[in-house]
Amino acid sequence: MSGSSSVPHKTSLPEGVQAGNVLRIRGVVPDKAGRFHVNLLCSEEQGADAALHLNPRLDTSEVVFNNLAQGAWGKEERGPGLPFRRGQPFELLLIVTGDGYKAVVGDSQYHHFRHRVSPASVRQLEVAGDVELTSVCVF
Ligand code: GAL
Repeated sequence: MSGSSSVPHKTSLPEGVQAGNVLRIRGVVPDKAGRFHVNLLCSEEQGADAALHLNPRLDTSEVVFNNLAQGAWGKEERGPGLPFRRGQPFELLLIVTGDGYKAVVGDSQYHHFRHRVSPASVRQLEVAGDVELTSVCVF
């Protein structure tokens, strides 16, 4: 996609993701943003498991990483600080590795989330919440 677009944004990933794939999300955090999220979901159905939930929380100045399995959240992980700013553009890369997902924000690696679920099981990238998207690309 290109041009500004509204959320929720969904990209189908019918073959899952694998080491070497890069998901690139560019957007702007609205002035009054509370939270938004990037989910790697294991189906397109309501209530799908999430292999990764990446949740910038402008309201509490943290970024929470987790997975969701059969409606239950796993153990939360957090990156250092908050590399997103209200009113500012951002670029988030999710680099799929053999071990997990490297989240890179701007020029720096922010957090590495180890796979809890096979990346081959992913079926959809979803971006939703308080965010304006500029582009979402899967390489
Ligand atoms: C919960 C929150 C969910 C999700 C989860 C991640 O507290 O309500 O939206 O972010 O944390 O662990």
